[in-house]
Amino acid sequence: MTDLKTIILAAGKGTRMKSAVPKVLHPVCGKPMIEYVLDVAKAAGSKELIVVLGHMITAVREQLPPEVVTLEQKKLLGTADAVKTTSSHLKSFKGDVLILCGDTPLLTKETVRALVKKHRGSQAVCTFLTAVVHDPQGYGRVIRDMDGKAVAIREDKDAVGFERQIAEINSGVYCINAPALFAALDKVRQNKAKKEFYLTDIIEIFTQDGQTVETVATENFKEALGVNSRIDLAQSQEIIRRRILDRLMLAGVTIVDPASTHIDADVKIGRDTVVRPFSVIENNVRIGSGCLIGPFARIRPGSRIGDDVEVGNFTEVSRTKIGRATLMKHFGFLGDATVGANANIGAGTVTANYDGAEKHPTKIGDGAFIGSDAILVAPVKVGKKAVIGAASVVVRSTIPDGATVVGTPARVIKKARSQ
Ligand code: UD1
Ligand code: CA
Repeated sequence: MTDLKTIILAAGKGTRMKSAVPKVLHPVCGKPMIEYVLDVAKAAGSKELIVVLGHMITAVREQLPPEVVTLEQKKLLGTADAVKTTSSHLKSFKGDVLILCGDTPLLTKETVRALVKKHRGSQAVCTFLTAVVHDPQGYGRVIRDMDGKAVAIREDKDAVGFERQIAEINSGVYCINAPALFAALDKVRQNKAKKEFYLTDIIEIFTQDGQTVETVATENFKEALGVNSRIDLAQSQEIIRRRILDRLMLAGVTIVDPASTHIDADVKIGRDTVVRPFSVIENNVRIGSGCLIGPFARIRPGSRIGDDVEVGNFTEVSRTKIGRATLMKHFGFLGDATVGANANIGAGTVTANYDGAEKHPTKIGDGAFIGSDAILVAPVKVGKKAVIGAASVVVRSTIPDGATVVGTPARVIKKARSQ
């Protein structure tokens, strides 16, 4: 099979974001926008991922996985110029190139796979993705001949007369035979109106050379949505949020109120866990099966929740491991904690994990009982089946297995029964 490599265009300034953060690094459901595009490229079978960067290149480069090749576009002279920066890197590559944009997190792997498949099954040198939209303004329009063949893409700024009414747009996703691509790029002239070199001009160049261009139409026009502003960012986040919730529900998780539930992209939840309204579950969280989460729970990155655990209302759990069947039913905060199985974390329990300079761990053993309103000033170790009295303040200490402590600072009033 022909080799596939991917070029992701991400050199643009992202001016309309009005941000100190490079556009493609803005998170969508906890994950930088560009990572969605990288995932799609990988899923399409790319042998190599090449990202073209310009604006704030170092900041973006630092966030990309090491296997990604980054190349610099020195001046932002347009999308054709951006692709051309890869020409020496790909000079001996004879396979197909997939071209994507770094700001399209909604694009799905199914769609890109369909594009690559159609390209390979045809004689075309270039296959690109189109979509029919209600409002084509701002997008390149697909110009077709009498036989319905795509012969050109007319950019919004250059579209005149009937062309402006064309609802079929170029979504900016292409699969192109590499040698043909670079040969065509050499023929692209600078656009007079925008002083840019348009990648989209290659369609007309191929047509004039008698080469075949194919298209694939997306059924879901939203896949083509490029994030240009914070409004687009919120819109794409909303769509991705729903996709995440749908995936979890189909996998056996009950989401009581999808409208008020925010779960990041990289979260795994087991079957029969119920997530109640107004809960926020952030990236890199794993939750077992049969748990009850929320309402109003916030589970932050690095947390691991075992099976049959309850993290109830008004709770925050951060970088914390909770063992099987432990209950934390009411308001409270656990940070940098490791809690065993079958423990009870009373209402108002707080791990004071931060001393103003450093964070410290808290360990709570299996079957421990933490009374209401207890404060554990970390580092703290609570032994197995130990009991912390209500409103106690445990200050940087180790409570032996089975002991009962009370007061401020907490002192032992009962030792474990020797067996
Ligand atoms: C582009 C297409 C348009 C299509 C639309 C789909 C061109 C000329 N037009 O328009 O037909 O409908 O995408 O979203 O290609 N970039 C660089 N270097 C540059 C310029 C752009 O890397 O010099 C990158 C941007 O960071 C961005 C991508 O290329 O990721 C697309 O550029 P953008 O300026 O957003 O193109 P559009 O005007 O949206
Ligand atoms: Ca764009």
